[in-house]
Amino acid sequence: MPAIVLVGAQWGDEGKGKATDALGARVDYVVKFNGGNNAGHTVVVGDEKYALHLLPSGILTPGVTPVIGNGVVVDLGVLWQEIDALSARGVDCSKLLVSASAHVIAPYHQVLDKVTERFLGKRKIGTTGRGIGPAYADKINRVGVRIQDLFDESILRQKVEGALDQKNHLLVKVYNRRAVAVEEVVETLLGYAERLRPMVADVSLELSRALDRDEIVLFEGGQATLLDIDHGTYPFVTSSNATAAGACTGAGIPPNRIDRIVAVVKAYTTRVGEGPFPTELLDADGEKLRQDGGEFGTTTGRPRRTGWYDAVISRYAARINGVTDFVLTKLDTLTGWERIPVCVAYDVDGVRHEEMPMSQSDFHHARPVYEFFDGWTEDISGVRSFADLPKNAQSYVEALEAMSGARISAVGVGPDREQTVVRHDLLS
Ligand code: GDP
Ligand code: IMO
Ligand code: MG
Repeated sequence: MPAIVLVGAQWGDEGKGKATDALGARVDYVVKFNGGNNAGHTVVVGDEKYALHLLPSGILTPGVTPVIGNGVVVDLGVLWQEIDALSARGVDCSKLLVSASAHVIAPYHQVLDKVTERFLGKRKIGTTGRGIGPAYADKINRVGVRIQDLFDESILRQKVEGALDQKNHLLVKVYNRRAVAVEEVVETLLGYAERLRPMVADVSLELSRALDRDEIVLFEGGQATLLDIDHGTYPFVTSSNATAAGACTGAGIPPNRIDRIVAVVKAYTTRVGEGPFPTELLDADGEKLRQDGGEFGTTTGRPRRTGWYDAVISRYAARINGVTDFVLTKLDTLTGWERIPVCVAYDVDGVRHEEMPMSQSDFHHARPVYEFFDGWTEDISGVRSFADLPKNAQSYVEALEAMSGARISAVGVGPDREQTVVRHDLLS
């Protein structure tokens, strides 16, 4: 069972990092296939806490080969910072491979990200400001700079000139900013080249050979289903394919090599940034979920918006990704509620919707239809087997499983690697 894709089912921050890390010791490769340092994964190992952004979460496990696929946008300054910080804590980053075809986030992408958000005013997306959207826009516009371009100075200069040609007009004439100097960007990028050289690889070929050898490759998605550029709540999304199919295009492996698709889903819902969120709680209950769950962004520190579990979203995630297994996280955060609402359908202008509405306007008007489940008060953070969970917690998990479109194979009861109740082995 060599190729497993792991994605987020909701709007991100479901606990993908912990789930990847927990599988780490049994995996040979962990591949990041989309996004960039907009991602933030917190992984807790004993007393140590790690915040990962650009590096795949598998980096924390000795023996794993971490891989950055072609679908990722790479800020090399951030990559070095992350590698240096982890190395200083004794984490071996020497096996990291970076695709020659991944695109580079250049300094002008961050400038454009921030300035366009400001100009959007009330219509802003609430991006992470890391230059993600502008870097992908250049890729699609065919004026992007790729990792491989850093090893040919004259090509690099041509590409940076091409990328800045229109942008400098835009920056100066529309946004009232300073023009970006081609030479400064070229110098900065060339400065990264030597350190990068030994890591650069033909990732598609490397992974294909690994799969031929029956090694286990885990494809770790950044962001999540509802932030996917095609299948998310557009335009309030990120600029990459965060759904399972993105693993194929973002790492260069064919769909028929994928054996299992795991979606990580929180026992309630959170979202960072702007955009519709049917089960959002803007009251004291929402604040309680935020405090109990520590729902503050790993990347930007922003408070996360919070709400109840939404089974319409889970069913959608199951369908779009072809989910074989869910990992349900943060069940422990719900301890102490007398009753727990779960959204089972939407009411859109008087019409009941069991599935995601087709249009964005309908989704904006969706009002949750709730079913209520009895809560539990026992501390479950030390529980390791499903039978030892309080009866009501078991019923809650079983009810979510029945309405979410795939089995729930693991349940998170705390942030630590060990704090997981396994119901079905994800790797067998
Ligand atoms: P990711 O972006 O999907 O990797 O998720 P984040 O790391 O941004 O956010 C998830 C947060 O929840 C992190 O702080 C994790 O340490 C934490 N976490 C993950 N699983 C669990 C769980 O089962 N219980 C609790 N209490 N915390 C968890
Ligand atoms: P992980 O991998 C939660 C959100 C931003 C914003 C939108 C677009 O940790 O789950 P971008 O900077 O990507 O152009 O921002 O997407 N966003 C995330 N929200 N978790 C993430 O990653 C996110 N990455 C981007 O808040 O609303
Ligand atoms: Mg996160």
